[in-house]
Amino acid sequence: MILRISLKRAIVALLVLGVLGMLFAWSGAMQISASSGHWRITDWFLHWTMRNSVRTHAWLDAPPDPLDDEGLVSAAGHFRQACQVCHGAPGVRPSPVMQQATPPAPDLARTAGEWRDRELFWIIRHGVKFTGMPAWAAADRPDEVRRMTAFVRRLPHMTAAQYQALTQAGEEGRLPGVAPATLSACTSCHGVDGRGREQSDIPVLAGQSAAYLVASMRQYVSEKRSSAVMQTALATTGREDMARLATYFSAMPGLANVATTRSSPGVDRFGQPLPACSNCHAVGKAAPILAGQKPGYLAARLRLWQQDDNVIDARLPPDTMAMIARRIPVDKIDELARTVAQSGSD
Ligand code: HEC
Ligand code: HEC
Ligand code: HEC
Repeated sequence: MILRISLKRAIVALLVLGVLGMLFAWSGAMQISASSGHWRITDWFLHWTMRNSVRTHAWLDAPPDPLDDEGLVSAAGHFRQACQVCHGAPGVRPSPVMQQATPPAPDLARTAGEWRDRELFWIIRHGVKFTGMPAWAAADRPDEVRRMTAFVRRLPHMTAAQYQALTQAGEEGRLPGVAPATLSACTSCHGVDGRGREQSDIPVLAGQSAAYLVASMRQYVSEKRSSAVMQTALATTGREDMARLATYFSAMPGLANVATTRSSPGVDRFGQPLPACSNCHAVGKAAPILAGQKPGYLAARLRLWQQDDNVIDARLPPDTMAMIARRIPVDKIDELARTVAQSGSD
């Protein structure tokens, strides 16, 4: 018997297949339990599809420089708080509960080498649908993703001792009223002296105004200020702990609220009407102390303000610092950040 394929027959066949598929889904016969795992062929097909998708999308929208090696402490600390439970880490097994997911999270020390830098960046930033691999918690912080990509890239060669050194600071202080584990989480990145463990992306908290530190923490929690690292770090910190921690770090020797030499009402700088930074960043004023802060961190904040779309949203109250930052030419940011970090004045 010869069956002729006509357009009409093809459409009918497709419709029948669609209805059969719906009937199968409706019947409940489809096995969706994680405990049953995948058939080998399904596993292969899903992973093959995922690899192809990552390859194409990484090529389309991952940056050409996806690695930043300068912030391994904050990346490792965030990995410990957010990723280790599923993936494990050098010297740390993944949670047995998480390993019962389908698919279970791979050991990155084994698989990281299979991916190109841009592909790792893309996965870490966007996550993988249907697998439990989450997207980066702050969509507008590719700089944090670049640090994490550099960290994951190093995992295949990292020893347990190196991981521990990255995620733990030295001898702990004590803070009455605050659980030792909470304090040691903060100091693992910010250092027991509150000076940020010589990392250019971790700000000095020591000596900073306590009111500003509390305000910053609240901004992270309310997501007004975005950082996957700090949002995760503060996920279980209550308001009282925040106040105690702010007072604790603020009282340490560090940033000094030095008197600035000049405070002019306005200066014409870079051809822009920019106010003198020392109008607000000065002794007795509410703005944070800049003198002694890390230039890399200050420059990163100015860059973030420049990219913030909310700045020009007329429905929101104006954000002064964002407006000021937008007037600084991009190529002058590093220089200005270095100047104010050195002297606090402009
Ligand atoms: C809830 C569990 C879970 C958490 C938390 C998690 N992942 Fe994953 N991750 C997965 C799973 C599952 C896959 C496998 C996806 C696949 O194969 O399709 C994966 C894949 C990856 C991959 C691709 C490697 C490969 O061989 O497939 C990278 C890189 C990665 N995760 C990094 C991270 C980082 C960094 C974090 C923390 C910010 C993180 N993951 C948090 C579950 C998790
Ligand atoms: C995994 C590393 C890490 C941990 C853990 C961590 N921090 Fe941070 N913290 C950072 C980084 C990185 C930044 C800069 C974030 C940004 O770009 O906005 C930061 C910023 C801050 C700021 C803003 C400072 C400023 O000058 O604006 C405060 C306040 C702060 N952290 C307090 C804490 C406290 C309190 C804890 C403990 C509950 C803590 N951090 C835990 C890495 C960490
Ligand atoms: C009108 C007052 C005002 C002036 C003028 C001003 N700032 Fe600010 N600045 C602030 C306030 C308020 C904050 C805290 C904002 C926040 O956390 O949301 C801040 C925060 C900052 C931060 C982030 C510091 C940190 O520790 O996270 C940087 C960097 C900064 N300013 C740089 C500058 C520079 C450079 C100038 C001069 C070109 C300047 N500011 C002029 C009010 C001002």
